[in-house]
Amino acid sequence: MTIGTALTHSATKALLLGSGELGKEIAISLQRYGVEVIAVDRYPNAPAQHVAQKSYVIDMTDADAVKSLVAEVQPDYIIPEIEAIATQALQEIEQQSDITVVPNARAIQLTMNREGIRSLAAEQLGVPTSSYAFAETYQQLEAAVNSGIGYPCFIKPTMSSSGKGQSMVKAPDQLQAAWDYAKQAGRTDTGKVIVEGKVEFDFEITLLTVRALNAEGQVETYFCQPIGHVQQDGDYRESWQPQAMSAKAIENAQNIAKTVTDDIGGLGLFGVELFVKGEQVWFSEVSPRPHDTGMVTMITQRQSEFDLHVRAILGLPVSTELQSDGASAVILGGVDGEAVKFDGLAQALHVQDTELRLFAKPEAFVKRRMGVALATAKNVTQAREKALKASKLIKVTQ
Ligand SMILES: Nc1ncnc2c1ncn2[C@@H]1O[C@H](COP(=O)(O)OP(=O)(O)OP(=O)(O)O)[C@@H](O)[C@H]1O
Ligand SMILES: [Mg+2]
Repeated sequence: MTIGTALTHSATKALLLGSGELGKEIAISLQRYGVEVIAVDRYPNAPAQHVAQKSYVIDMTDADAVKSLVAEVQPDYIIPEIEAIATQALQEIEQQSDITVVPNARAIQLTMNREGIRSLAAEQLGVPTSSYAFAETYQQLEAAVNSGIGYPCFIKPTMSSSGKGQSMVKAPDQLQAAWDYAKQAGRTDTGKVIVEGKVEFDFEITLLTVRALNAEGQVETYFCQPIGHVQQDGDYRESWQPQAMSAKAIENAQNIAKTVTDDIGGLGLFGVELFVKGEQVWFSEVSPRPHDTGMVTMITQRQSEFDLHVRAILGLPVSTELQSDGASAVILGGVDGEAVKFDGLAQALHVQDTELRLFAKPEAFVKRRMGVALATAKNVTQAREKALKASKLIKVTQ
């Protein structure tokens, strides 16, 4: 693989579609190898734009806007960091040019819609999932729940992320409200919701799975140690690595992840979300890109999930080795406002073996993720305590 010189005619260019905190770390990893980074978001001064050579603000769901930007920038790689992208445009670009869409346009298309990835995983690939059905009307939803899915169940818009429009329904009298909420909060109204039976899991994990070239130049699948996490209000609050699991459960998890990512194809890192109960494992969903719960790898692994994604994309060798047990705890805005200030950094970093990442988002919301505290320790219980303690010492003010 050859890399040119950034900001010259020989530059190897990566167009980052989405410039949040995950994109910021991808950009930093790309920069370290001399790749020129062009960071795009829907608002100016998004986190990755602080560390990119060039930035653009466009509506990434607008196919014409995406196509004309690609024509202008002429990137070697298009790296989607978010789900809400005009995937049709990516498909055309992939077909009509030498530009690599990471990992490929079909993956982006499949995973932006829960129907695409769920149908592929459960019906074509035969991996275990929760029971589920799709509904376009309230009557269809009610019929699906009554004819087998039952209660409790989850209702989700087919196009949404970060828990938006999602609710758990425990009894029939809550179903209408869940339907209304899903319809109103979906990203673009596909007119469909998915209803899933609740999986009574012991814990859930993200299995970071990397498709990268080995020494023979062949695609090989590598797994990171499983990441455990706690979800609240649709977003993760804490994650840790490794999540203790039986050997059989790990084997089942890796088999599911391999089956799904083999079918998706391409090079890069994937966040495979799985539910685990004893030795049983269910597939939930997959991100064809670094995963928010994987931020813990910035402190636990020699190559973070961002480094792994970048190295895989560039055709470079990867190592998923864990260096230390560790944990991450998010730092929420706690306030609504622009240009917020962060205090308590020194106190937080006096907690031993901790690190902080502040994303520099221009605007805070009470529940917006503004940073993350990271910690290592001799076990995950202690690492979680330290990360949580450090995160709570950070005070966000207007
Ligand atoms: N069928 C289910 N059974 C049990 N728990 C579930 C089920 N579906 C979702 N959950 C819980 O809700 C969380 C969020 O669900 P899901 O990942 O489908 O939503 P999302 O909007 O894609 O969230 P994100 O973008 O943060 O991954 C899961 O991590 C899990 O904790
Ligand atoms: Mg999820």
